Amino acid sequence: MDGRHSLGSDPRPALLAASHTPGAARVDGLADAALRASLGTLVATVWASTTLFGLYILAFYAAALARGDMARWNEVLPRLHEPATPLATAGIGLHFAAGGIVLVMGAIQLLAPLRERLPALHRALGRIYVLATLGTGLGGLAFIAAKGTIGGTVMDVGFGLYGLLTVIAAVQAFRHARARRLELHRAWAIRLFALAIGSWLYRIDYGFWIGLAGGVGHTDDFTGPFDRLMAFFFYLPNLAVAEVIIRARPRQRTPATRLAASGVLAVAAGFLLVGTYFFTRRFWGPAILEAIAGRG
Ligand code: HEM
Repeated sequence: MDGRHSLGSDPRPALLAASHTPGAARVDGLADAALRASLGTLVATVWASTTLFGLYILAFYAAALARGDMARWNEVLPRLHEPATPLATAGIGLHFAAGGIVLVMGAIQLLAPLRERLPALHRALGRIYVLATLGTGLGGLAFIAAKGTIGGTVMDVGFGLYGLLTVIAAVQAFRHARARRLELHRAWAIRLFALAIGSWLYRIDYGFWIGLAGGVGHTDDFTGPFDRLMAFFFYLPNLAVAEVIIRARPRQRTPATRLAASGVLAVAAGFLLVGTYFFTRRFWGPAILEAIAGRG
C-alpha cells in the first residue's frame, strides 16, 4: 500500500518540513513584522487619543469648576449641572475627575517594560487606576439613579450596565492582583481597559456618524434608533475583542491569519487617527491649550 495515503501514517513531519522552507520562513517573518507594526500603530494611536481626551475632560470640566462657571458643563450635554439636583452634580463631578484620570493613566498601566522593570510603581499606579475607575463608574451610576440619562430608559439601561460592568471589572482586577492570581488579573485588567476606552470610542463613533452619515438616526434627546444602538454598542464590541485577546494563543495563528489580522488592525488605526485629528483640532486641542494658558 502507498504509505503517503495510508490512514495510519502521520502527515505532520512532512507539513512541518514544508513550513520550514526558506520561502515559508520569509512569509512567516513578513506576517510577524506586519502584525507587530499594525498592532504598535493601533496601540500608540489609542494611547495618544485617549490621553488627549482625558486631558480635555480635566481641562474643560475642572477649569469651569475652578472658575465657578458650572453652567459651562451643559455645553456638550444639557442637564449635567442643575442647582436643584446636587447629588447628580456631585456624582457627575466625581465622574469627570476620575474619568479624566482613568484615560490618562490607562496607557501607562499597559506599558509592558514599566510593569516588568518597575513592578512597585505598576502596583501603586494600579491602586490609583482601580480607585479612579470605581469613582467613574459609581459617579455615573449615582447620576443615573438621581435623575436618569438624557436618552431615557434605553440609555439608562445601556449606561447602567456599562457602569456595573466597569465596577465589577475594577474589583476583580484588584482582587486577583492582591491574591497574585496573575492570569486572572491580566484578563480582568484587559476587560477593564476595554470598558474604560468605551467612553472615548462613543465620542469618536458619534463624530464619524455625524460627519459621514449626517447623523441619521440621532436626535438631540438621544432617543433615535442610532442613539439606542449606541447605548450598548460602545462597550459590548470592545468586550468581545478583549475576550479574543485574552484567549489568543499566538503560536497557533497561521501566517495568513496574522496578515489578515494586521490588515484589520491597520484599518482600525487609520480610522482612529482620522477621528483623533478632527476631535483634537475642533474640541480637545483648544480646551487643553486654553487651560494651559490659564484662560479655560
Ligand atoms: C473612563 C471612563 C469614562 C469617561 C472618561 C467618561 C466621561 C464622560 C464625559 C466627559 C461626559 C460628559 C459628556 C461629554 O462631554 O461627552 C460623560 C457623561 C456621562 N457618563 Fe461618562 N465617562 C466614562 C465612563 C462612564 C461609565 C462607566 C458610566 C456608567 C455609569 C458613565 C455614565 C455617564 C452618564 C450617565 C453621563 C451623562 C449622560 C447624560 O447627560 O444623560 N460614564 N461621561
